[in-house]
Amino acid sequence: MGDDRFTHVDLPQLEKRVLRLGVASNYGLQADDVLRAAQLGVGFWLWTPRFKTATAALARILPRERERHVVAVLASMAYTAGMVRRTAEKALSRLRIDQLDILMLPWLGKASLLTGAIADALLELKDEGKVRTLGTSIHDRERAGRLAEDSIFDAFMLRYNAKHPGAEQDVFTHLEVRSHMVFSYTATSWRQLIRPVAGIEMPPWPGADPGVPVPPMTPAMCYRFCLSSPHVHLTLTGPGDRAQLEENLAALEAGPLSAEEDEWIRRYGREVKARKRLPFV
Ligand SMILES: NC(=O)c1ccc[n+]([C@@H]2O[C@H](COP(=O)([O-])OP(=O)(O)OC[C@H]3O[C@@H](n4cnc5c(N)ncnc54)[C@H](OP(=O)(O)O)[C@@H]3O)[C@@H](O)[C@H]2O)c1
Repeated sequence: MGDDRFTHVDLPQLEKRVLRLGVASNYGLQADDVLRAAQLGVGFWLWTPRFKTATAALARILPRERERHVVAVLASMAYTAGMVRRTAEKALSRLRIDQLDILMLPWLGKASLLTGAIADALLELKDEGKVRTLGTSIHDRERAGRLAEDSIFDAFMLRYNAKHPGAEQDVFTHLEVRSHMVFSYTATSWRQLIRPVAGIEMPPWPGADPGVPVPPMTPAMCYRFCLSSPHVHLTLTGPGDRAQLEENLAALEAGPLSAEEDEWIRRYGREVKARKRLPFV
């Protein structure tokens, strides 16, 4: 068997091994694309009640091969304990499973609150066996760092990409490698890294023919950047269609970035960030 340390990961607490690209279906994937993704080895799915096109497909895949698939359910909003419980119970029923792998509070501090009552509700769901682990999506990185050190959360969903690598200082330093689950999203930084930006001059991509037109970054570079961090268990991809899905999954085969590639990507990310208003060409 080949070395699959870059392409697959054992998720702590869940004891499931999955491909390191998790799929979010809300940017255009249809039910048959979700089934195709599962055939191609995808085992991590972000789901919210709003991801309607994926629901029937996941309700087929998840009960059948429960040990191979992880579903992370992101509540749409969570301001009360009742909202949290209703999200979990609705997800169990819609996905036709007995236990959610991860129940996540959305955008902590904005779309959800961590009150005592909500924490109690989350822990009760865990005690009842309806939820295996708890997580949150969070933009406030300093708070994420504190929560990583001491909180009920087993999983963190964080913005992390070449333009916004700040989680390295603010959060990753608070994590013992692999002790929590860390999922990154916005690999393409809302597409800013993969759309041409006027006025940025870069040396050729390491090892590439000077005639090859980079920048911008390719989606493959974006996902490989995130996955090259030893603190990131997996990164989410939100493909617009099946062709993008297959292209992004194929990116894993290129393996981790070399030091030169990493340096190039960080420089490009800084260049993009330095432009306050992005002059896309
Ligand atoms: N919690 C939060 O605050 C928050 C914030 C952001 C995102 N999210 C969620 O996180 C999940 C992942 O989102 P993301 O922003 O991380 O997704 P992403 O993978 O960084 O970006 C997805 C977009 O990138 C483009 N793209 C992807 N692959 C491509 C390819 N091979 N070729 C060309 N273009 C490609 C597509 O844009 P086009 O459609 O233009 O082709 C696609 O819609 C989603 O469910 C999203 O809703 C959550």
